[in-house]
Amino acid sequence: MKNIVILISGGGSNMAAIVREAQRGHWGERLGARVAAVVSNRAGAGGLVFAREQGIATAVVDHKAFPSREAFDAALAETIDAHAPALVVLAGFMRILTPGFVERYQRRLLNIHPSLLPAFPGLHTHQRAIDAGCRFGGATVHQVTTELDVGPILEQAVVPILPGDTADALAARVLTQEHLIYPRAIARLLHATG
Ligand code: GAR
Repeated sequence: MKNIVILISGGGSNMAAIVREAQRGHWGERLGARVAAVVSNRAGAGGLVFAREQGIATAVVDHKAFPSREAFDAALAETIDAHAPALVVLAGFMRILTPGFVERYQRRLLNIHPSLLPAFPGLHTHQRAIDAGCRFGGATVHQVTTELDVGPILEQAVVPILPGDTADALAARVLTQEHLIYPRAIARLLHATG
């Protein structure tokens, strides 16, 4: 069985969408894969509750308990590696990872970013898209490389930006699409890698 480990920092709605699709799509039988663990850098991350309810192993590695990014990433990797993952999935994981961590999971590390990359890497993507007068926003699933929000694109979803949109309204519209493209990207990748 191929294990998927999902990293979250907050509400974890993308994580929940992946778990639900894995259940609905019978990923175990179809792709030989399952969500083995959900790991958060914040003990209060809402998504941990959902994961526990689903009987998925959870762990917290609190970045504040470590003196450096390298020390945090080493502890995070140790927690992840206990599940021998075929894929490590960043789903609203709001920590910048060190090059050493990224290289350790080369080609097995995915991220979802709330913009149409390569436009608007970094934070506040929806407000920046509105301020720039963009007619469309969206989200991108990509493989993670050592450069932030750069890396081979696997899936994108496009949504319109409507007159009078706020960043929150746009974020909500984009998020519903994120929930569709992230499970799809993972299933395709697992299928392609046999
Ligand atoms: C999502 O919109 C995701 O694209 C974004 O955080 C949100 C997490 O929501 N990720 C980033 O901004 C990464 N830089 P969720 O916790 O409900 O999945």
